[in-house]
Amino acid sequence: MPTAPTALLPSEKQSESKKPASRKGSDSNGVETLIRAMLKKHRTPFMIIRKDQLVRQFRRFRRALPQVMPFYAIKANPHPKVIKTFVKLGAGFDVASAAEMRQVLGLGAKPEKIIFANTIKSVDDIVAARKARVRMMTFDNEPELYKISEHYPGAEVLIRIKVDNHRSVVNLSLKFGVDPDMAFPMIRRAKSLKLNPVGISFHVGSQSRNVENYLQALEITSQIFNEAEENGIPLKTVDIGGGFPIPHFDGEIGINFERMAAQIHRQRKQLFDRKVTFIAEPGRFFVGPAGTLVTQVVGRTFRNNKNYYYLNDGVYQDFSGIVFDHCKYEFKTLRRGQKFLSALAGPTCDSFDTLALDAEIPELYVNDAVYVKNIGAYSCASAVPNFNGFPPAKLIFI
Ligand SMILES: Cc1ncc(COP(=O)(O)O)c(C=O)c1O
Repeated sequence: MPTAPTALLPSEKQSESKKPASRKGSDSNGVETLIRAMLKKHRTPFMIIRKDQLVRQFRRFRRALPQVMPFYAIKANPHPKVIKTFVKLGAGFDVASAAEMRQVLGLGAKPEKIIFANTIKSVDDIVAARKARVRMMTFDNEPELYKISEHYPGAEVLIRIKVDNHRSVVNLSLKFGVDPDMAFPMIRRAKSLKLNPVGISFHVGSQSRNVENYLQALEITSQIFNEAEENGIPLKTVDIGGGFPIPHFDGEIGINFERMAAQIHRQRKQLFDRKVTFIAEPGRFFVGPAGTLVTQVVGRTFRNNKNYYYLNDGVYQDFSGIVFDHCKYEFKTLRRGQKFLSALAGPTCDSFDTLALDAEIPELYVNDAVYVKNIGAYSCASAVPNFNGFPPAKLIFI
């Protein structure tokens, strides 16, 4: 892969307004046709969220894990239309704060289909949950139990255990989860504090490529279930968390949700009584594939022996997933032709605002579009409103 065609010479500047090359044969799935149509109507940056993809992902999940009720983790993308779509489909919701809780309630979610899945909650948020009759919540430490028992007696609590996050892109066991051997003593403590310990939750880490993490976590969970049953505190709910992976690159290997789900399904059947209720907290899997971000080149230069293209969206806006989600994206263009290793950067005055140093793209010109698929999760959700005066993408829900 060559690194650059040439430096940008003065004579080339005339070609900045060149039209993209022929479209023939470049658009197998209609995404580029859609982007071209949208570019005529909307200023960039914009993010297209496709409702049909949200529905598709929800149905895939239900088909593959029919006994597991999904509670969509709205942190992935809290856009009201995304939430409303999942309300209509009958999903539950995983919220991390009273503000998220109010948002889903305001959009039609039922309190009994919400889990407050942050193991650390402020007193105000616990009180808000009580008032809203959102009964189910997670915990992983004793001080949290004291808070909950004081401000929400009788709440249904699930203990979050620490499980292996090996080969997940985002490790969620660094900050959360009790060691499994401490789980039962805490369940007993919850009971003695007049709480209602109903089950166990875990999270194998986000974008998990390793089904073993789920299988092992289920095994550990079943052992704690047995211990609790033997000691007269039968449990009834298992929350298998999120982590279900999606491809971020065309043809990415090693990601097969259906195969992963089939193994989880078998393990669940083997280890648990049919009366046990299963829930999950998918975020990325539900909303990631629905999002396509469209940006434009606002400037270009030649440095470090390669072309640098500056886009009108960056790590402070909709590419925030590069930082917070450790995500790598596949950058695509509407232009065809020989590809060169190039750098892509955001619009702000920070060197940190660099998106890629090794994007494989054709030579681009000012105003050319650069787009990224499968970017609906952990992108706009964590964008800063106006850093350096640059707004995040407009969301277009279709
Ligand atoms: C408690 C909790 N539940 C669910 C999720 C969603 O995870 P994912 O997007 O990997 O499905 C997260 C993500 O960080 C989380 O922290």
